[in-house]
Parts: sequence; structure tokens; C-alpha cells
Amino acid sequence: MSKKYYVTTPIYYINDKPHIGHTYTTVAADILARYHRSLGHDTVFSTGTDENSSKTSVAAGNNQDVQKYADDMAGKWEETWKNLGLSFDVFVRTTSKQHKTAVGRFFNKVYEKGDIYEGKYEGLYCGGCEAFVTKRDLDEEGLCPDHKQKPETVSEENYFFKLSNYREALLNHYEKNPDFIQPDSIRREIINFVRDHATDFSISRQGLDWGIPLPLDKTQTIYVWFDALINYLSAIGFGIEEKKFVKYWPADVHIVGKDIIKFHCAYWPAMLLSAGIELPHQVFAHGFFTINGNKISKSLGNAIDPIKLRDEYGFDAIRYFLFSEFPFGADGNFSEERLRERYNSQLANGLGNLVARVAKLCEKSEFQFHTTSFTIKDAPKEYHEALEHLRFHEALGLIWDYISTIDRQISEEHTWKLSGTALKNALEPKVEKIREISILIEPFLPETAPIIQQHFKGPLIGAIDPLFPRK
Ligand code: MSP
Repeated sequence: MSKKYYVTTPIYYINDKPHIGHTYTTVAADILARYHRSLGHDTVFSTGTDENSSKTSVAAGNNQDVQKYADDMAGKWEETWKNLGLSFDVFVRTTSKQHKTAVGRFFNKVYEKGDIYEGKYEGLYCGGCEAFVTKRDLDEEGLCPDHKQKPETVSEENYFFKLSNYREALLNHYEKNPDFIQPDSIRREIINFVRDHATDFSISRQGLDWGIPLPLDKTQTIYVWFDALINYLSAIGFGIEEKKFVKYWPADVHIVGKDIIKFHCAYWPAMLLSAGIELPHQVFAHGFFTINGNKISKSLGNAIDPIKLRDEYGFDAIRYFLFSEFPFGADGNFSEERLRERYNSQLANGLGNLVARVAKLCEKSEFQFHTTSFTIKDAPKEYHEALEHLRFHEALGLIWDYISTIDRQISEEHTWKLSGTALKNALEPKVEKIREISILIEPFLPETAPIIQQHFKGPLIGAIDPLFPRK
């Protein structure tokens, strides 16, 4: 039986439409899913929408049915990802029956374990984060650093989850499994948080009219994060399709942004421990990027629409830029100027030009080429290691090294001046390398790779249309 692979993205709030930040996370999962599929692994890539937040009812406004608003928005998210050619297998909606059933079953397990108790929450709440916060989480002016909002002061009867029961178990797990949280800087941050600050947290809210009612007490709704995290289980059939669930769980990697690590690296594994469910293999937190040095925000109006960008440059170019410009994990800056620069130097002049040159020389040589047997399994060790550790820019770096090596050979040996057998002999290894490149770049550039593969699959190779016209 083939190996399974399960990769997830966060499920996104629907009060906004997808921007380049969400696209970044979703493409990362797409790269991994494509890589694992090409290795023959039985792969599930899940994404979706987090709909039970109060943000949804606020965004729907007073004149609109909230469920209808949610349906429209979730449709837009799914459509956008499809439109961009992202290869997700499951799109979870937290207002779906399947998800709600899974949440109910999960809740019962935790309740039966004795980890839920009634209490009173008195403190601060940031609606932007949908999080109970303390002064420690705020900036000097008392604002949420992510949303620049003053949190509300709330006082309400809630049900709590005994996170404190799992502090030791979590610390133990982090210690024994250094890869469970990556990168290391995030791992250290979480260890400090769990050791020094993790307290029981509310898993219900009082007086909300949108959300999943708490099974125990219908005057309460399930806290939106407790509900949303369970999407990773409901996506693969937890509580409904047991066989499927057993096949794909535990997730191989949850990809998240560094803004939501507390939920994924502390709350979520504690909830799973309580419910007696195995922990995911890894949570990988990537950095945040700014746009021309500014945080992406609705109020600044700088949220770049991925569809518009795709229409201008092609989505492969965006994918290439996002994953070659800075290491996955680190923060970065996005600027269209830089995108255009790299497009021209690395894609138009680099990959595109090389492929066009070699194809033209093949046309001139009129020689027949053999078909290749190279598959992704034959990729060098460094390539596999880079992808296993989500070091996408390293994998791309390796491929672009191949490109410059062939470019250099062509300029050194003046391949275009050769003819007859000398030309054939010079071209054959280059064609072979281009075929290899086209296989290695496929997870990153899924539209371009098949065009190259098709063109160079032999036996006769003619001129090729420009892959990346200069901008
Ligand atoms: N609904 C929660 C997640 C629940 S998962 C069980 C949520 N949604 S969100 O719509 O706010 O999406 C947050 C995620 O979007 C981040 O964790 C990150 O993956 C991505 N990004 C949003 N802005 C981003 C940047 N500026 N840069 C990089 N990633 C960004 O939180």
C-alpha cells in the first residue's frame, strides 16, 4: 500500500476575500501536495473556510441572512483557489453538517474525559484574533499588535478546557519530538508560553447568535477556535467516515502563519491528547510578509488580489516569486517591482530563455532524441531534503543552479556554432537536464512544467513559444 500524506492550511475567515498572504500559505500546501503525489503517495490536501466567527455575522450586516452571506463568501474562496489551479482535495466549511457532527463527537470525548468545567471568564477579548487575551499580548498602548484594536472587556459564564492538565504532557512531547513545531524560533516561543503562561481557556461564549451551539448548554456557542481546529479531523471524515479518518490521520503537516501558533501548537495538541487522538506530525509556522514595507490590511487597502496579479504575470511566476524570494519561515516583503525584476531575470531570461535556446538548437540539429526515464524519485538527495523540511527556496535554488550551469556551458562551448555529431553530442546532455528540470519544477510551476515536458519528450524537438514573455 502506498504511503499516505496529509497536508492542511488554516481555514480562512470569510469577512474578507483571499489576498496574497492567504495565497502564500495555500500555495505552500499545494507545492507539498503536488510533490507527494508525484512520489506516488496517497495525498490529501485540505483547506477551507472558518465561518462560525462573529466576524461573519458582523460582515453580513443587519439586512442579510448570515448563512446566505457565508454560502456566498465560502463559494468565492473556493472559486478563487480553483481559479488559481490549486490542487486541494477537500474544502472544509465549518457550517457544514459533516463538520458540526465531528465537533459534537469531539466535544463529547473531551467532556467525558472530565476536561471541561463551568466557570466565569473576566478579562479581555480581541475580536480580530477571536482570542481571549491578557495585557501581555498587547502593545504599549494596550492595543492588539496584529489588529491595532483595543480589546473588549468581557465578563461571562463560560465552559473551560483544562489545558493545565496537559502542560507537562505537551512539554514532554515538544522535548521528545523536536520537529513537532518548526522552525526552532517558534518552537522556543511555544515552549516558553506553555511553561510559563498556558492557563485553562474558554471553549464557549455566551450570548452569541451565530456559531455551533454547545451540546451541554444551548445558551452557549462553541468558541470559534475550538470548533475551527477540529476541521483538520472533519476534513478526512472524523466521526463519520471512520475508515477514511484512520487512513489519513495524523496529519503530516499543518501549515500556519506565525499569528496562530498558540492555537495550533499548544491548544490543539492538548485538545487531541484529551480526546485520545494521536497528534499531528508537525506544525510548521511561516513568516508574515509586508507589502512595500506595510502590513497587509483592509484599512490600508493594500491587500493584493492574487487573481489580478495572476492575470498580469501568470500564476507560476507568482508561485516562483513567493517561494524563491525568502525562506519559508522567515518574514519578507512583497513588492511588485521586485516581482517584475525577478520575473525578467529568473524566468524570462533564466528558465524561459534556456528552454527556447536549446529547443532552437535541437531544431537546427535535426537529430532524434531518446525518451527519458527520469522521475522525481531520481531527484538528488538535496532536493528531497529541502522539500521534506519545507525549505522551498533551497529546492528552487538547486534547480536554478542547473539552469545557470547549462547556460554557462552553452556560452563556453559556443554550442550554436557546432554542427553534425558535435552538435548532437553537445545537445543530448542538455536536453536530458532540461527534462530533469521540468520534473523537479513541477510542484512549483505546475503550468509551465508540462509544457516543457511535452516539448522535450522527443523524438523531434522544434522551436518553442516563449514561456515567460518579458515584462
Ligand atoms: N480562521 C483562522 C484560522 C483557523 S485554522 C483552524 C484565521 N484565519 S485568517 O483568515 O485570519 O487567516 C490567517 C492565515 O492567513 C495566517 O495564519 C497565514 O497563514 C495567512 N496570512 C494572512 N496574512 C498573511 C501575511 N501578511 N503574510 C503571510 N501569511 C498571511 O486565522
